[in-house]
Amino acid sequence: MHHFQFKDKALHCEELAIEDIVEIVGTPLYVYSSATITRHFAEFEKGFAGIDHLTCFAVKACSNIAILNLLAQQGAGADIVSGGELFRALKAGIPAEKIVFSGVGKTAYEMREAIFAGIRFFNVESAQELDKLETVAAELGTKARVSFRVNPDVDPKTHPYIATGLAQSKFGLPMEEAYRQYKRAASMEHIEVVGISCHIGSQLTEISPFVAALQKIRAMYERLRQEGIILQFMDIGGGIGVTYDQEDPPHPLEYAKAVTAELGGLDCTFVFEPGRVIVANSGILVTSVLYTKTNPGNANDPAKTFVVVDAAMNDLSRPSLYGAHHTILGVRESKGEKQTVDVVGPICESGDFIARNRELGPVQQGDLLAVMSSGAYGFSMSSNYNSRPRAAEVLVRNDCYQIIRKREDYDDLIRGETLLDENF
Ligand code: LLP
Repeated sequence: MHHFQFKDKALHCEELAIEDIVEIVGTPLYVYSSATITRHFAEFEKGFAGIDHLTCFAVKACSNIAILNLLAQQGAGADIVSGGELFRALKAGIPAEKIVFSGVGKTAYEMREAIFAGIRFFNVESAQELDKLETVAAELGTKARVSFRVNPDVDPKTHPYIATGLAQSKFGLPMEEAYRQYKRAASMEHIEVVGISCHIGSQLTEISPFVAALQKIRAMYERLRQEGIILQFMDIGGGIGVTYDQEDPPHPLEYAKAVTAELGGLDCTFVFEPGRVIVANSGILVTSVLYTKTNPGNANDPAKTFVVVDAAMNDLSRPSLYGAHHTILGVRESKGEKQTVDVVGPICESGDFIARNRELGPVQQGDLLAVMSSGAYGFSMSSNYNSRPRAAEVLVRNDCYQIIRKREDYDDLIRGETLLDENF
């Protein structure tokens, strides 16, 4: 359930008609519902009520500081993967002690910043990273809190680009290697071993891979305990899927039930890193139809109709990158014969599409379309490709909205660039 509904044939976000926002802010435009975000977060939390835990929103899913700010107000922490995300999380008012730092390639500079800020812990993913962290912490005359991200070799049954817990993935340490690194880290002067973590992939639609991973990390937790290495944190990552099309992912409460059943009785604080499940259905991308055209086809290929819109793969890359499905709705409900069309952007690549072979109601030049479920990995993955200024972002609360990111202009495109010096 989300807060994008039709009222009097016009798509609304909460109490505001999308058309009215577009009239002021233009397109392409990301519109987020604050009520959906806070409801999803509260729902996630409900499943773990009474359990000692910390929910760290995966900043990469939607990194606008207003949205992080909203989540901070609800008590969320942050899962970050770069110095830039640390900067955003702190700016948004997320306390450093609620921040965990994941990722395979942290630089010494990023480590320094995170130690300095006082984050909760690093999820360390290689032996060399551990050595680097020890060096950096020594230079700062302090200790770095470490959790190892293990790779449990479990198939998350998702798109290969977003599967992260397979033996072939670049992420985490294989179990036996992790065990060796725990022993090594335990004797390091500037490292404090505090936890274990794993994240096996994103957009998971079944519970079983989560359970399989949990069993493996629980076994490791207990094995370490017998060796006298007591972990305070167990971080089980993110990954719960959402419905984009026909998927039937587990409800967060079902996920919580399975997790608590597997982890019951452990004496530690659980850390969760949900991203998509909190924000995907909290945001839409609104785009205007620039042109429609039909290519006649030939003896082998049928005619094809294109709906050319003002949003492109630089605004929402998921369809081009993963073949992802996003439902597309007319912002104004219209009756009439449906047509099979490709919804494409202005970018000079045939890979630039928002939807292919999609049945849409009658679409005309000037219509507004809503690309649904774009709140996660939508704007945060956008770029300036083809020198396209990035879209504006708007957050709605009841019948009010705030522009939380203004539309970029041409000066934004060349910020930091220079013409050649005279004597170059
Ligand atoms: N924790 C870690 C360490 C992660 O790498 C990720 C996502 C998450 C948590 C959050 O996972 P979620 O709850 O959102 O599934 N761009 C892709 C998704 C990439 C996910 C990367 N890691 C997409 O658009 O589908």
